[in-house]
Amino acid sequence: MRINAVIVAAGEGKRMGAAAPKPLLALGGRPVILHTLAAFAASRAGKTVVVVPEQERPRFDMLLRASDLGRLEWTLQSGGVRRQDSVARGLELLDADCELVVVHDAVRPLVSAALIDRCIAAAGKDGAAVAGLPVADTIKIVSIDRRIEATPPRDSLWAIQTPQAFGVELLREAHRKAKLEAIEATDDAMLVERLGRKVVVVEGERRNIKITTPEDLALAEALLLQSSGKS
Ligand code: C5P
Repeated sequence: MRINAVIVAAGEGKRMGAAAPKPLLALGGRPVILHTLAAFAASRAGKTVVVVPEQERPRFDMLLRASDLGRLEWTLQSGGVRRQDSVARGLELLDADCELVVVHDAVRPLVSAALIDRCIAAAGKDGAAVAGLPVADTIKIVSIDRRIEATPPRDSLWAIQTPQAFGVELLREAHRKAKLEAIEATDDAMLVERLGRKVVVVEGERRNIKITTPEDLALAEALLLQSSGKS
């Protein structure tokens, strides 16, 4: 089965407040994006479309060309205004015979190849699969004026991560519908759910954090150190 990946790295990173885009910040002595790509290189995913901010394309291009990415076949694409626009642009560059696509946030650099492969296997069976973990906190729905409106039962709440893997045609259809009906979504699963199609959750990883703030970067450093046995 031909499997491609779309790694979205075209966010503005306002919450980080750094000069460089988050995927280019140093983590354990090398840019975040290189950790992410190393995991994909070790996974079953084949060609990887890396979606980057248009104005940063030369920087990403130089970095990726200069780096040892093993057997990874990669190509760059320019991103869009919203995450879903960036994914849609990534889908334009998949191999013509690609059957399954794995979408991943560049800013989740501690993902393992095993988790990517678990999502691929589950999507191969069920059509759509995302990584997720049961939440430990009690989650509440809160209004704009900070009043609690509801408390959904915790046993049915999961925090969804990427990777998210889909049959290519299913994900393309989901994005087409989103565009036509002006649906906004923070992940791809949500667009597939809107089609009324089944999406299964595979057990994610605690260390697969999304680097959003400087604290997240510090946490990722600590997790890396721990896994390399230096702490
Ligand atoms: O902003 P958010 O937390 O949803 O970002 C998740 C991922 O989506 C990040 O890796 C970010 O670079 C990417 N993104 C993108 N294009 C956008 C917005 C976010 O590729 N317009």
